[in-house]
Amino acid sequence: MKAKFITFEGIDGAGKSSHIDAAKAFLSERGVAVRTTREPGGTALGEQIRSLFLENAMSPHTEALLVFAARREHLERVVWPALSEGSWVLCDRFTDASFAYQGGGRELGAATIKQLADWVHPEFGPDLTLLFDLPPDAAKARIDGRGAVDRIEQETAAFHARVRAAYLARAAAEPERITVFDTRAPLATVRAHVLARMSALFDVASQEHA
Ligand code: TYD
Repeated sequence: MKAKFITFEGIDGAGKSSHIDAAKAFLSERGVAVRTTREPGGTALGEQIRSLFLENAMSPHTEALLVFAARREHLERVVWPALSEGSWVLCDRFTDASFAYQGGGRELGAATIKQLADWVHPEFGPDLTLLFDLPPDAAKARIDGRGAVDRIEQETAAFHARVRAAYLARAAAEPERITVFDTRAPLATVRAHVLARMSALFDVASQEHA
């Protein structure tokens, strides 16, 4: 079975992280080797870039360059080797986040992000993306309940609305790859939909091998 690259996306507060473990358990129970990781980060250098990124004010261009620098490192050292060894990779955020946050939130535009993506990982992208959606007001209420917030989470409501709109535009353009989950539904309902989507992909992957 060809290993799959699956990404988890959504505005801050949409609750994606809680579903990654469930997706991992689902695959592990079926004998699939799984690697979970995150962006920015996933490597020693990438985690340093993540700290720089989350803790310092910087220009939108610098943000974009940092997340793509971390991404290339992550792809070469973690994601591509894992996939070629047959492990499925579940990644907490990937390039759709750059389209949403830097392209949409920071208003660099999709064309600029596409140029970077085409240079950093030509011909490569997720097999499946799970997009956890939530209106920004509801997301903000969840973030505020958490305590410490990073500089992106502290951004304005207008910023988060642009991030969400950019995510939804990507989902509309690529409905086969990106599945949207309305996280206003109860957690158990969202979880069931996530596992159904994982199950469908697993069935397709199993048939590819047959
Ligand atoms: P996040 O993944 O939400 O981690 P946590 O759950 O610990 O808050 O935080 C990463 C932040 O980085 C998030 O606000 C989105 C942002 N980000 C970008 O702006 N561009 C990117 O390309 C990526 C991958 C993340």
